[in-house]
Amino acid sequence: MKMSVVVVFAALLLPSAVLSLEVSVYSMVMLPNNTIGPAYITFLPGSPVVALTGISNGDYGWNGTLCDNNTSPSLFGTCGRALGIATNTSGFIYFCDAYKGLFGVGPSGGPATLLFPYLFFCNAVDIDSIGMVYFTDGSQKYRNNSLARINDTSGRLLRYDPNTRDVTVLATGLATPTGIALSSDNSYILITQLIKDTILKFYITGPKVDSLEVFARNIPGASNVRRSLDGSNYYVPQNPKPYSHFLLRINSTGNVQANLSIAGPYSNIAYFRDARPVSPTAFYIGSQYANFLGVATIFGF
Ligand SMILES: *[C@@H]1O[C@H](CO)[C@@H](O)[C@H](O)[C@H]1NC(C)=O
Ligand SMILES: *[C@@H]1O[C@H](CO)[C@@H](O)[C@H](O)[C@H]1NC(C)=O
Ligand SMILES: *[C@@H]1O[C@H](CO)[C@@H](O)[C@H](O)[C@H]1NC(C)=O
Ligand SMILES: *[C@@H]1O[C@H](CO)[C@@H](O)[C@H](O)[C@H]1NC(C)=O
Ligand SMILES: *[C@@H]1O[C@H](CO)[C@@H](O)[C@H](O)[C@H]1NC(C)=O
Ligand SMILES: *[C@@H]1O[C@H](CO)[C@@H](O)[C@H](O)[C@H]1NC(C)=O
Ligand SMILES: *[C@@H]1O[C@H](CO)[C@@H](O)[C@H](O)[C@H]1NC(C)=O
Ligand SMILES: *[C@@H]1O[C@H](CO)[C@@H](O)[C@H](O)[C@H]1NC(C)=O
Repeated sequence: MKMSVVVVFAALLLPSAVLSLEVSVYSMVMLPNNTIGPAYITFLPGSPVVALTGISNGDYGWNGTLCDNNTSPSLFGTCGRALGIATNTSGFIYFCDAYKGLFGVGPSGGPATLLFPYLFFCNAVDIDSIGMVYFTDGSQKYRNNSLARINDTSGRLLRYDPNTRDVTVLATGLATPTGIALSSDNSYILITQLIKDTILKFYITGPKVDSLEVFARNIPGASNVRRSLDGSNYYVPQNPKPYSHFLLRINSTGNVQANLSIAGPYSNIAYFRDARPVSPTAFYIGSQYANFLGVATIFGF
């Protein structure tokens, strides 16, 4: 079920010195029929991708048949909605169900265990190198970013310790945190604030421990953030408007260094959400509105 689309490769240096690139080659891994929406992507060590899927509003059938094929807004909050997902080095998978909380499931799958239900909008997860699980509660008031857009700053960053099963609230006052990425030395974590067009940096250790500062500004539509494989950069999906998709490479001091146009099979898709590097030249691309997982080959990014 693979299909390839070749897109012309072009690179040029802009006066701003932000490198502007395009995807060289895409392949598409089609999802099963009637399934769409791999919004967030993770891996099992040494094996293929795990991508979460849902129907177009992101809701899916956690509540019997009630939720199947039903995108009625009245079901908002009733049906499950799987969002952020991450795998620890032993293959244990942690994921957010927006309305139900943080879940865990072992490497061989099976029913998931609810680890922490006290969330209003669980939406992003990342795991540090010693296995601590960081996650966000996008808001404590709104499950709809369009409404939160007015002025909501009730989002939180939390940490789950798998040894003690304790959860600690690390930061409050966040404006729709939708993506997080730990630094490779576990000393800080980046947090995208979708409605503020910014990325924040929260210090986990060091002299600025427990403080937040702005890492990057003026990034409209930045929904998620991923660390590069070598730990030196971050990749941020940016949708400045519908049907307009870019992937930014931002260095560890917050400067945008390259701006990749994500076109190809995404040209007719309103937004994309995730771009996980899998090798120095390949990314898995996820969109809640796509019926496929994109595999993009990009040189010089
Ligand atoms: C998916 O749909 C296509 C087109 O309708 C059909 O040819 C194919 O057999 C379907 N695949 C499965 C697994 O149902
Ligand atoms: C399933 O939906 C019903 C309302 O239709 C709701 O009361 C119930 O809490 C839901 N169950 C779960 C597990 O979310
Ligand atoms: C959803 O709808 C499609 C076609 O509209 C149908 O083929 C599919 O079986 C439905 N899925 C469920 C779970 O009802
Ligand atoms: C979210 O809020 C917007 C603005 O009020 C509204 O148009 C949209 O229908 C809402 N979405 C859901 C799923 O309720
Ligand atoms: C992965 O998570 C599971 C479940 O919490 C835990 O038992 C295991 O020790 C974790 N592995 C690592 C390497 O942290
Ligand atoms: C923020 O939003 C809430 C809920 O919509 C509203 O009650 C409040 O007046 C708003 N505050 C400002 C400063 O806009
Ligand atoms: C990030 O990029 C800026 C501007 O190009 C540069 O001044 C800075 O040194 C870079 N940071 C690192 C850690 O390389
Ligand atoms: C990336 O390029 C697009 C198209 O030129 C632009 O709309 C967007 O603002 C750029 N992003 C940044 C952070 O410069």
